[in-house]
Amino acid sequence: MALRIVATRPYPDLLTLPWQLPLEDWGADLLVALPQGISRHVVRLVRAGQDLYAVKETRPRMAFREYGTLRDLRRLGLPVVEPVGVVEGRTTDGGDELEPALVTRHLRFSLPYRSVFAHGLRAESLPRVIDALAVLLVRVHLTGFFWGDVSLSNVLFRRSAGEFAAYLVDAETGNLYPKLSEGQRSEDIEILRLNIFGECLDLQAAELLHESIDPEMVVDDIVARYDRLWHEVTYEQEIARPAARHDIEGRIRRLNELGFDVAEVAMSTVDGGYRVRPKVVDAGYHTRRLLRLTGLDAEENQARQLLNDLDTYRAESDLSDEQQAAHRWLTEVFEPVVRAVPANLRRKLEPQEIFTQIIQHKWLLSERAGRDVGMAPAVQSYLTDVLVKKPDEQAVLGVEVSSLAGGV
Ligand SMILES: Nc1ncnc2c1ncn2[C@@H]1O[C@H](COP(=O)(O)OP(=O)(O)OP(=O)(O)O)[C@@H](O)[C@H]1O
Ligand SMILES: [Mg+2]
Repeated sequence: MALRIVATRPYPDLLTLPWQLPLEDWGADLLVALPQGISRHVVRLVRAGQDLYAVKETRPRMAFREYGTLRDLRRLGLPVVEPVGVVEGRTTDGGDELEPALVTRHLRFSLPYRSVFAHGLRAESLPRVIDALAVLLVRVHLTGFFWGDVSLSNVLFRRSAGEFAAYLVDAETGNLYPKLSEGQRSEDIEILRLNIFGECLDLQAAELLHESIDPEMVVDDIVARYDRLWHEVTYEQEIARPAARHDIEGRIRRLNELGFDVAEVAMSTVDGGYRVRPKVVDAGYHTRRLLRLTGLDAEENQARQLLNDLDTYRAESDLSDEQQAAHRWLTEVFEPVVRAVPANLRRKLEPQEIFTQIIQHKWLLSERAGRDVGMAPAVQSYLTDVLVKKPDEQAVLGVEVSSLAGGV
């Protein structure tokens, strides 16, 4: 059989690779020295042309199966490595058959979780790293994918533009279903527990795990965060109903309060309901995103609340374009609310802070009413019941001037 490359599009550079040699014998000139997880198969990171690829030698049926699965998962919008193709019909110069190879594009700036743990990750940094993994697994499960082999080597960690994301790298054992049963989800979680606990113990034995990290705690933490996130993201999900702003807002708030540094909750109308998609982000992320989208400068907490409102608005109005939604939110929501504050009251607080306080106030009123009370009544009530009572200096400094006397 002649060498054949099954791929989504032509990759001429791949033809230059020495497919007639077993992967193990490929020369150092082709290989790229980047961290790799532990694997049963021979896997090599190689350079071909301008690009880096991961090449995995595997049995024929497995190669095509994994290639197909990765393509399906990408089509469904999940963060997984990009499948490039399968190379088959490999023979040595002596005429011996070689196993086919699955080729994926190397995910730039990524590290296998195993390397993240092995290189001095300390307990303080653990939550965000774990949250990214929990978010990935929730998304994978929501899509109906049973993974079957969650491990520190099968997940890649990537930090980019203030976001922390986990990517699925090894789909060999997985299966896509229309929907996962509770049993399938808990089986995946059990596998995760076994794998990750074992891997952490190995790292610990090799003195690669930071002493502040306890393997049992790591596993319990991942599972606890996964469970809470799963609940918050899925409950009532299938309920069809018209836009329920208060519900979306509540869900976003709870996600924030869960201690997940989860933000930018993207929502889309699914079966008439809402689906929230959390992200894990770095400090300062909200400030930067708000500035980029609206030109408003705000401190991190304010920015997060403003963005939550923007995202809710975007979900409600079914606008897919983020920039367009931001512009409309600014002109149709933010600016009118700020303008509604009489000039003499406006100097008490800066516009971002006024708006943040108004959405907070609206939330309290809506909680009491059990429904979304709407912006106009909330603004009115805020002006008459809250803002007028704030002395200027308290509003500006956030504290009474007298309390500063001794301390400054
Ligand atoms: N596209 C890619 N981008 C970055 N790294 C990759 C990519 N593909 C594979 N790797 C690296 O190679 C390692 C092994 O790949 P993979 O998990 O697919 O092999 P495997 O033999 O199927 O593993 P297992 O033993 O879990 O079955 C991964 O842990 C990862 O570090
Ligand atoms: Mg693997």
